[in-house]
Amino acid sequence: MQTTHQPAPEHLADAASRLQCIGCGEECTSMGRDLRCPSCGDLLEVVYPGWKTSAGMRAAGLEEQALKSLWRERRTLGLPLDRSGVWRFREVLPALGDGHNPITLFEGNTPLHEMPLCARAAGVDRLQAKHQGMNPTGSFKDTGMTVAASFARREGFRWVACASTGNTSASMAAYAARGGMRSLVLIPEGKVSWSKLSQALDYGALTCQLRTDFDGCMRVLNEVVQRMPVYLLNSVNPYRLEGQKTAAIELLEQLEWEPPEHIIVPGGNMGNSSALGKAFVEMKELGLISAVPKISIIQAEGANPLVRTMRENGGRELISVEAHTLATAIRIGHPASWKKAVRMLAATGGTVEQVSDVEMALAKSEIGADGIGCEPASAVTLAGLKKLVKQGFVRPNESTVLVLTGHLLKDPEFTLKFHRGDLFAGTRSEKAAGCLAVKQRGPVVLEASADAVMKALEAAEKA
Ligand code: F0G
Repeated sequence: MQTTHQPAPEHLADAASRLQCIGCGEECTSMGRDLRCPSCGDLLEVVYPGWKTSAGMRAAGLEEQALKSLWRERRTLGLPLDRSGVWRFREVLPALGDGHNPITLFEGNTPLHEMPLCARAAGVDRLQAKHQGMNPTGSFKDTGMTVAASFARREGFRWVACASTGNTSASMAAYAARGGMRSLVLIPEGKVSWSKLSQALDYGALTCQLRTDFDGCMRVLNEVVQRMPVYLLNSVNPYRLEGQKTAAIELLEQLEWEPPEHIIVPGGNMGNSSALGKAFVEMKELGLISAVPKISIIQAEGANPLVRTMRENGGRELISVEAHTLATAIRIGHPASWKKAVRMLAATGGTVEQVSDVEMALAKSEIGADGIGCEPASAVTLAGLKKLVKQGFVRPNESTVLVLTGHLLKDPEFTLKFHRGDLFAGTRSEKAAGCLAVKQRGPVVLEASADAVMKALEAAEKA
């Protein structure tokens, strides 16, 4: 394999931030090629000893009010770094260092939507949705990828790589292309939506469909990174999570720094929920907010390792599962960042819940009825919220934000099958899916005449 410059297997964090192991707590000046702690093999995270508290932050010349105005003001400025909804928060991100520009596609700055029909469906007074699917490649992955891909380029890597259920690969391939790097994608054959696969191809990735599931792809990739100088861009990469933090910071900004009581997020490999939790905890430590929202993680019933882990042993030991769900993005049975998620749940007071594919499909159509499209995995949030309201964990008058992680067009096949009524045909859920009929709006084929269209209109009006 050709390399422009043979990078060292490890790289150093910059002066203001440090890498620390979440297991043994050791500060790491290097990380293994699998991006884990060289001493104990656990995951690493970025910490900022300089500003861990608001007093520390003031000492570092960062003042709460000044930071809030600076971040908001940057949205109106023209510099690429300021126009990025990630890098405009650069005071709370690891620095790339002088002479290194970030690879940006102007990610972040995503909308926060009111969801009135969904609020009614869930039984809450008010509900909002932060749409991370409105990022450049259509998923939340871009916010993390801009940071981690930039670090990969800073370290001189020619190849970056990931195992993926589709969105990470689409995002990585795009940022690698923008940054002049090659990308290697490992995806489970037949279990990734065509939209996501086509993105990776268009951005020039070497795309390998492996005859296994996501967890199998991850195992193979871990071996590849040990044997070749390729930079791992899965969410075990601590820099990914730093970028993904900014969705929470931006949400707080959109809410005038009044944190909601609840955040509901889908759980797959658990990087995102951990990143959001980290952001809220840091914002509180810095004095930018006074309370941390409860972050709850929702999984698909057939891909529920965290739910089982929390319920069966209180989060002490991961219970892996063989994952099955139509929400291919979260078809993950052995989540890499489960320990970070357990810690996040404890720090924020959130909970875990699971939903069936039928409940998820119903919720997706309800989100659509509010005029907002999302991919199936994102819709577990609304389905899960309904359960949390029934259990009394979320009270109707509490402010709640759903995190929609991917765009509707990420999985059009799911949506088409849903509306044609054959999403669950021939499956064990066929009977349970009967309740979806009222939501189905399959396309009608008509003669090309005004009469035929008007008849259809009249029928729709009466329905
Ligand atoms: N929602 C979507 C749309 C996703 O693509 C993913 C993960 C998740 C939720 C779960 O996020 O892993 O941070 O808990 N997709 C990964 C991928 C695994 O490869 O694209 P998580």
